[in-house]
Amino acid sequence: MSTETLRTATKNATKSKTPDREATAQRLLRSSLEHSYEPSLDIDWDAPLADGAYGMPAHRVSIYGTELWDQLTEEQKVTLSIHEVCSIARVGLWFEIILMQMLLRYSYDRDPRSQHIQYALTEIADECRHSIMFAKMTERYGVPDYRPSWLTQQAGRLFKTVAYGPAMFAGTLVAEEITDQLQREGMKDENVQPLTRMVSKIHVTEEARHVRYAREELSRIMPKANFAQRVIARWLTALSAHQIATNLIHPDVYRSVGLDPKEARKVARANPHHQETFRWTARKLVPFLREQGVLGGMSEVLFRKAFLV
Ligand SMILES: [Fe+2]
Ligand SMILES: [Fe+2]
Repeated sequence: MSTETLRTATKNATKSKTPDREATAQRLLRSSLEHSYEPSLDIDWDAPLADGAYGMPAHRVSIYGTELWDQLTEEQKVTLSIHEVCSIARVGLWFEIILMQMLLRYSYDRDPRSQHIQYALTEIADECRHSIMFAKMTERYGVPDYRPSWLTQQAGRLFKTVAYGPAMFAGTLVAEEITDQLQREGMKDENVQPLTRMVSKIHVTEEARHVRYAREELSRIMPKANFAQRVIARWLTALSAHQIATNLIHPDVYRSVGLDPKEARKVARANPHHQETFRWTARKLVPFLREQGVLGGMSEVLFRKAFLV
């Protein structure tokens, strides 16, 4: 994106009417009181798993539609889908911990009497329950801990310690919208395990508020960001988008069905169906980030590499 396009994007963002910060926070707080869950109590963790049900919709599994997929038995396909949904949840959990720390830092020196900060604290509490929920789901499915790669963990450690402003809200949107799209679809699919569907339903309900909070805040702060801040925001957002997307399916998931992790990952990365899934998860996110001037220019190459555009 050229400097001129960047300026126009920012001007457009200024022109568009973003609702008042306190009014939005008040609505989000009210909605949190009306529609929130306590997954430890609201999910029956001892309920038996449904026989033959998928962990996530079959057509979202990374190697769906390839020869490798066709060679798997029905039972193996189900197993792989369970491992993949847990891998996605693990990346979600990883980013939730990053987000909790960023929101804590964000709230640290702001007025706690404001509805905006009271909502930030509410969101931290939501994310804390979500992380426990994802952890319990993985435990229930009896799946290994598919944490992001060592390098990603270290990058995340730095990001959660220093990210603020545009990069913080845009990075959050990337993580939240990718998982949200997958879960919105999964929760309605009758071939999917009731456990995944309930976890997805809880997450989708509470994340809708988080997405709103982050989107509106991003459109309030972007017009005020200077050129350097906008460039930093673009690169940090692109880097986090790339890390989130490339870690979403841990290569070790393929071991669960006796496939070679390196080989199967190569097949998945080259799978047009899998690439399309990424673009589909980002179809609402990408135009919004462009409109805000957070996506574009050289950093866009990272979005492309991750098949998000
Ligand atoms: Fe969450
Ligand atoms: Fe969230």
